[in-house]
Amino acid sequence: MARHLITSALPYINGIKHLGNMVGSMLPADVYARFLRQTGREALYICATDEHGTPAELAAKEAGLPVDAFCAQQHDVQKAIYAGFNISFDYFGRSSSPENREITQHFARQLEKNGFIEERSIRQVYSLADGRFLPDRYIVGTCPHCAYDKARGDQCENCTRVLDPTDLIDARSAISGSSDLEVRETKHLFLLQSKLQGEVEAWIDEHGKDWPVLASSIARKWLTEGLNDRAITRDLDWGVPVPADTWPELAAEGKVFYVWFDAPVEYIGATKEWADQDAENRDWKSWWYEAEDVRYTQFMAKDNVPFHTVMFPATELGTREPWKKVDYVKAFNWLTYYGGKFSTSQQRGIFTDAALELLPADYWRYFLMANAPESDDSSFTWEHFAGTVNKDLADTLGNFVNRVLSFSRKRFGDEVPAGLEEGEAEAELGRQIAELLAEYERYMEEMQFRKAAQALRALWSAGNSYLETKAPWLEIKTNPEGAALTLRTAMNLIHLYAIVSEPFIPASAAAMRSAFQLEGDTATWVTQDEAKSLTFVPAGTPFTVPPVLFAKITEDDLEAYRERFGANDAQADA
Ligand code: 2FM
Ligand code: ZN
Repeated sequence: MARHLITSALPYINGIKHLGNMVGSMLPADVYARFLRQTGREALYICATDEHGTPAELAAKEAGLPVDAFCAQQHDVQKAIYAGFNISFDYFGRSSSPENREITQHFARQLEKNGFIEERSIRQVYSLADGRFLPDRYIVGTCPHCAYDKARGDQCENCTRVLDPTDLIDARSAISGSSDLEVRETKHLFLLQSKLQGEVEAWIDEHGKDWPVLASSIARKWLTEGLNDRAITRDLDWGVPVPADTWPELAAEGKVFYVWFDAPVEYIGATKEWADQDAENRDWKSWWYEAEDVRYTQFMAKDNVPFHTVMFPATELGTREPWKKVDYVKAFNWLTYYGGKFSTSQQRGIFTDAALELLPADYWRYFLMANAPESDDSSFTWEHFAGTVNKDLADTLGNFVNRVLSFSRKRFGDEVPAGLEEGEAEAELGRQIAELLAEYERYMEEMQFRKAAQALRALWSAGNSYLETKAPWLEIKTNPEGAALTLRTAMNLIHLYAIVSEPFIPASAAAMRSAFQLEGDTATWVTQDEAKSLTFVPAGTPFTVPPVLFAKITEDDLEAYRERFGANDAQADA
């Protein structure tokens, strides 16, 4: 049986992520990892903070902290938020780790050895006031085409024309505002991707066949445009240093690798960090090197696809070593906020920390996955969110659980009641549940999360229909034994829901499961036979009534959320 390696795109260190980031990477990866584990597969889910690069340096500067201290602090902040969302990483590492440094440098040496790296001199803008070279987008000035006075050195935001920093009129540093700039020669390492184009193409032909269209079409588009050689070093203080044993001169000048060179390597680095925590029992290399029995799935938003499907595989191929390459790329479109962009810079939309302050993680997890931007962009609105929470979670699932357990306790006490043997209605229900479960499993295997959420909701609804038809609150008057059977069956459904809902709403699932005091109870998945017979919790099993699982979102709440998060502003410029 294959072992499953799962990674989700590494979140940048320089700020709290919003819900759009969450639904396009960590959350679906977590849902899938949980499903695999529950269904008995070995799964290793690895992620980390992406800590290098100019944005991290600038954010640290703004926070008034040394960059290493800033990253350490922000790593903890992000880690706590993901724990709040119940993301079940096996390890959440840091790309600034010694492990990543070692493996990144190893990759670079191998690429050099195999003739895929070349040293080239380039001319780059140097800011005397800042004492550093400036990346193109940290140079601002007036656009020569439209006269917009805040155009960036790589592109004018106003007329969208691609620019070179030397095109700008009155160019100045975006960091200090200084116009004391000069163009200097500087040497950098270039990855000769052009030499690897054919191999990457052949690899995608062979391995990209089953990827979702979103991933394979982006990969092909990049290949059609041609793979260019790329500078993979930068003049920065913060990053993986160029190894002195191979490039003494560049190392002495303090060059570091470009953040996009070391970030994907951190998938491997973080696996080693994980193994280094318990070296006797964990073997990182078996997941990554000559790992034929590993099935590797990556989760990411569409802007990350080129790096993962083309550039990183090119890097791996160029090492001429048998590093594990991705088997399946699950890519996502954008989640919008009232049709407009979630924006980190403008703080528009809902950020993960604020979301958790407002409501428990399961509300967000369910809504986001049920509306995941899989085949198209999808839009977050408070109205849609409240409607979904109230209808699916509060009415269909939560109310079923509380109603059944409270009513049974009131009439039959604190144990699952005995009553009649299962009859035709229960057999029919079992067949229906088994069928829906099979459908749900199929979508989960295929990582079609919206459809999986629909199937899960259908399972919850089937319980409601059964209860409405049998109406134990009436049955109890004429046929108490029959009512006991109905309630016992409904309680078995609750236990089944607890297990199969776990990937989407783990905290509520745990609350449902712990309502029953079952011996040796685990969250192991349900078989078809178990679904048909619905006899997990036998008569006599003690139970408690959990607190209300999901509170409804009221009109007043909605008003307050819209007010606080500026729903109307976003709508206006959407
Ligand atoms: O786009 C981003 O948020 C990047 N930090 C993703 C990096 S993914 C991986 F390659 F490290
Ligand atoms: Zn312009």
